[in-house]
Amino acid sequence: MTNLPSIIQGGMGVGVSNWQLASAVARRGQLGVVSGTAISHVVANRLFEGDPAGHIRAALAEFPFQDTARRMLSRWFREGGPKTGEQLPSHPIYSIAPPRFLDQITAMSNFVEVHLARRGHSGQVGLNLLEKIQLPTLASLYGAMLAGVDWVLMGAGIPTQVAGILDRLSRHEAVSYRLDVKGEPAGPRSEATTISFDPERIFPGIAARMGPLKRPRFVPIVSSVVLASALIKRSEGEIDGFIVELPVAGGHNAPPRGKMTLTNAGEPIYGPKDEVALDGMAALGKPFWLAGGYGRMGALAAAQASGAAGIQVGTAFALCHESGVREELRMKLLERVARGEADMKTSPVASPTGFPFKVAQMEGTMSEAGVYDARPRLCDVGMLRTLVRNDDGTVVYRCPAEPVEDYVAKGGRAEDTEGRRCLCNNLLSTAGVVKVQKGGYAEAPIVTIGDDFPLIGQFQSGEQLSYSAGDVLRVLLA
Ligand SMILES: Cc1cc2nc3c(=O)[nH]c(=O)nc-3n(C[C@H](O)[C@H](O)[C@H](O)COP(=O)(O)O)c2cc1C
Repeated sequence: MTNLPSIIQGGMGVGVSNWQLASAVARRGQLGVVSGTAISHVVANRLFEGDPAGHIRAALAEFPFQDTARRMLSRWFREGGPKTGEQLPSHPIYSIAPPRFLDQITAMSNFVEVHLARRGHSGQVGLNLLEKIQLPTLASLYGAMLAGVDWVLMGAGIPTQVAGILDRLSRHEAVSYRLDVKGEPAGPRSEATTISFDPERIFPGIAARMGPLKRPRFVPIVSSVVLASALIKRSEGEIDGFIVELPVAGGHNAPPRGKMTLTNAGEPIYGPKDEVALDGMAALGKPFWLAGGYGRMGALAAAQASGAAGIQVGTAFALCHESGVREELRMKLLERVARGEADMKTSPVASPTGFPFKVAQMEGTMSEAGVYDARPRLCDVGMLRTLVRNDDGTVVYRCPAEPVEDYVAKGGRAEDTEGRRCLCNNLLSTAGVVKVQKGGYAEAPIVTIGDDFPLIGQFQSGEQLSYSAGDVLRVLLA
């Protein structure tokens, strides 16, 4: 396979690996990756804040369906920003039968992010999505493909369906996605609960207008050779490589193999069973990149010496000035590093997904018990809701971070709600979408960061706290 990057800037949701970051990396010849997770909320908010530099409107003006672009603008765009006290207009929530407008804004927002990341250079751009968040996947992939996305990278689960879907979407065919539904036996495929996406229904006449689309390369993110080889066997289309992610990486981590045991501080313990046999990866015959703790000088050469095509790095890029982390938060985190106080913990409960999740310990964020306790529980974004089939056959949507009584009424166990953060609203807040809820509560941020957090100093020069994506690449390639 040709044209393989040696460095992949990891996809970081929500809105952390935005188009500015991906563009900065891609124009320097490495793979820049935008996150498609909840991106329609981020794009809506950028419009609401007046889109000062006009980038979003410029990208929307390139979208092949101008009437839908205009509908998005008329709902969220505010010339010069919102009026005092005006709240971000509500955003529809996904279900298995989403309104057409939701699929449209999801596709358009992914289009916007990829289009802007690809503009003005000939480098390559990828889209990152999570297998755990299934409902928006089809619209997200299609929107990114309309903008010519070069790669799709997918973590947090076993994405057997995506490669085949990319093949079909490149021909504008109607597709459907089999959903994980708790309480539903893993019966025949024909009986699975699905969500569907028909490009011709969402954007009538699009196939004729656009012609065939480029089929992006597909790279799942795995934590073991067993998983990688299972994916090769079960994937419904061609897999083009793997990212092998170790548990020191920022974001969500694969749980430890076997029964989860915790340190005294309450963090999951990983052991020899969680190590990845790199010769086993190489034997699969696909290019692979190593992720988790590779954001340092010399790590690229070491990875390549062990058979990898290169590395994927997140933490180092998460705090560079192009990232989508709110500026004042980013600077506070960098100050912490400079004072030698960079600290993060792997929480086994913070994420509603049940996956371990790395959380930077920082005042004013959801890492603090007081900030967590002060949040009135509510669920109005719904990205992490799981589908549950009730005894009476109906499907309910539930999230252990929603109000406890709602969760229990839907058959959930109260103890499963303890300590769960509303990652939807908290991560949106980190990316600058600070929603003020009824009653005046402003959503607080949560910052996820990997074990390399204390090493950020290697990218700074002199007294300057801030650094750029270019600084990171210079160190990694040195
Ligand atoms: C702020 C942040 C957000 C992340 N979000 C995602 C995500 O949405 N999807 C994903 O596949 N990986 C995510 N990751 C993991 C990165 O893509 C990457 O694999 C990882 O950061 C590499 O390890 P490192 O942090 O040691 O460099 C995230 C990492 C960080 C630091």
